Amino acid sequence: MFITFEGPDGSGKTSQIAALAKHLEQLGYSLLTTREPGGTVISDQVRRVLFDLKNTTMRPRTEILLFQASRAQLVEEVIRPKLQQGTLVLCDRYADSTLAYQGYGHRMDLVQLRTVIHFATGGLKPDLTFLLDLDVEEGLRRRARGGDWNRLDAYELTFHQRVRQGYHELAHEEPERWVIIDASQSFAQVQAVLRETVLSRLPPR
Ligand code: TYD
Repeated sequence: MFITFEGPDGSGKTSQIAALAKHLEQLGYSLLTTREPGGTVISDQVRRVLFDLKNTTMRPRTEILLFQASRAQLVEEVIRPKLQQGTLVLCDRYADSTLAYQGYGHRMDLVQLRTVIHFATGGLKPDLTFLLDLDVEEGLRRRARGGDWNRLDAYELTFHQRVRQGYHELAHEEPERWVIIDASQSFAQVQAVLRETVLSRLPPR
């Protein structure tokens, strides 16, 4: 089973995934956690180019293709082989991030984006996607407090609002794949929903 986690910057995805992974491992599930962009040596190199603060002239098309380059390598080198072995794969961001950020955020054509995503992933789609949904301003505040600022965070507030709206539209289109969680709840509350949902879809151990 392939599970992805989406949401705005600062929604707590990364620490929630770590806690969920630990819990599932304790229950005896074999799993792999990874993230985008990154997750392989080559994909991590691409990530550095994407987030280098010096790359202020990077064009949206360049950005799109670099995200797909990172993704293509991750899918072929890691995700597909692991899924074939029956390993549960948890991925911090995946193709829906491209649709939300580059599509809705930068207003790049969604049909074209779906084509390049399909090329990069070979059509691999998640079985389950969580949206850790958070008010945009609260997300940016949390992110600024953490001090972990990257080149993409510098876009204006309305960009992040379009991203959030985009996630909601994507979730609405495929309600059977998406589960929306209010990420303003406590860490424990969010974690409980994640555990409950995943365990209800996995074969018992
Ligand atoms: P990252 O530092 O990994 O943090 P987080 O996932 O916790 O926000 O930043 C990833 C950034 O890259 C984030 O701003 C979303 C963006 N992104 C895209 O714009 N398109 C994509 O396809 C992906 C995978 C990420």
